[in-house]
Amino acid sequence: MTIDAVLERVDREADASLEQLKEYLRIPSVSTDPAYAGDVRRCAGFVQERLRAAGLEAEIVETAGHPLVYGEWLGAPGRPTVLFYGHYDVQPVDPLNEWRHAPFDPTIEEGERGEQIVARGATDDKGQSFTHIKAVQALMEETGSLPVNVKFLIEGEEECGGEAIEAYVTGPAAERLACDLALVSDTSMYGPGQPSVLYGLKGLLYTEVRVLGADRDLHSGTFGGAVANPLNALGTMLAALRDPDDGRILIPGFYDDVRPLAAGEREAFAALPFDERRYGAEIGAAALWGEAGYTTLERVWARPTCDVNGMWGGYQGPGAKTVIANRAGAKVSMRLVPDQEPERLFPAFADYMRSLAPPGIDVEVENLNGAPPVLVDLQGPLVEAALDGIREAWGRAPVRVREGGSIPIVSTLSKVLGVPVLLVGFGLSDDRLHAPNEKMDLANFFQGIRTVIRVLDRLGGCAAGAIRSDA
Ligand code: BES
Ligand code: MN
Ligand code: MN
Repeated sequence: MTIDAVLERVDREADASLEQLKEYLRIPSVSTDPAYAGDVRRCAGFVQERLRAAGLEAEIVETAGHPLVYGEWLGAPGRPTVLFYGHYDVQPVDPLNEWRHAPFDPTIEEGERGEQIVARGATDDKGQSFTHIKAVQALMEETGSLPVNVKFLIEGEEECGGEAIEAYVTGPAAERLACDLALVSDTSMYGPGQPSVLYGLKGLLYTEVRVLGADRDLHSGTFGGAVANPLNALGTMLAALRDPDDGRILIPGFYDDVRPLAAGEREAFAALPFDERRYGAEIGAAALWGEAGYTTLERVWARPTCDVNGMWGGYQGPGAKTVIANRAGAKVSMRLVPDQEPERLFPAFADYMRSLAPPGIDVEVENLNGAPPVLVDLQGPLVEAALDGIREAWGRAPVRVREGGSIPIVSTLSKVLGVPVLLVGFGLSDDRLHAPNEKMDLANFFQGIRTVIRVLDRLGGCAAGAIRSDA
């Protein structure tokens, strides 16, 4: 097989691939909002159809929530099996008025680094995971087969908890998903033109805290001073989450299971090009702040955090209203690092919040969402072969980095399948994922396809079972 012919095919079919990506991006597969459930399902159908067009067998897997899409081609006996993971669901689009175009009307624009496609899901994760399908299709059409066996598992609930895929992977499907290596493209590169492989993702504990006082709103003069004010109480409770001086999180036991940065990791982080000023300027922040004793990269990649994501209560209209509102609330999330466990930390967090409430204030704490943190072991001949393919595609060795974001199923995939999970993203930090005007650079979309082709080609030179002992 000549890889050049496959790559030329990618170039030749660029327009058609882009049209298909646009069609994909037109489907408003917002998983968290029940109003879009029909579109989410339609989107699963689109993915199934694209997998079939690429020459795979594909089916929709019904679940208690949104459907999964599973596909496979197992025509390379004796060769390794690669499992591709991605998600076809997207985040909500609000605030809608900040979009330059309608979020589900994908538009090609001239960006900072050439053409970019702007739409919800452009990079997270439709654009990125579509590179997997197009790579497989180009190989299949040019050569009539694939250098390795492939399986695809594409979910529709990544952005809202991912319960369906968790049940699927830990249940009877574990056998079906057996593979030698998993490949995920749902992250960003360290910088433009710098291929990057992640070996760590943070976990998540996402909670809601509700504070309740009197059974009605009270006149703040007539009753002020006589009762604890729910808004004041919530402010005190939230302020007690972090030490204002050194930024440490004050939830009792919070750091108990935190694995310190590995020997050499600090040096490796410090060796990466990083300009604090530019980082701040890029996000429009006047100053950076965080836990004392750690660099910005260490704080974001390897130290747990705790942030209020939203809060509400009391009078917010024009002018003054003298009132003691009887309820207030906040969304509080914690990003976790190995070996912290969301299930273990939730009670510690809830007890701490309750312990801080003044008399007469009821506190309700709800666990909304969680994901375990993960560190993957990037070792073995298949990982090396894949890294070679990435280097070949970009003309530059990939850097090994961590990330502050989460992909809930990755920890489970790595545990249940017992194989390395290669997190190789084609996004950039300015792709505005989850925000208005989300985009993906077209160059990265096509370079992603080429990268996957080269990775599969390299893996085809390895024997199956290089890692799996039961193969
Ligand atoms: N693709 C992102 C995670 C990500 C983005 C990792 C950039 C690394 C770099 C994923 O779709 C995501 O948004 N995850 C959520 C998970 C949550 C909803 C459970 C997150 O991190 O907030
Ligand atoms: Mn994603
Ligand atoms: Mn996301």
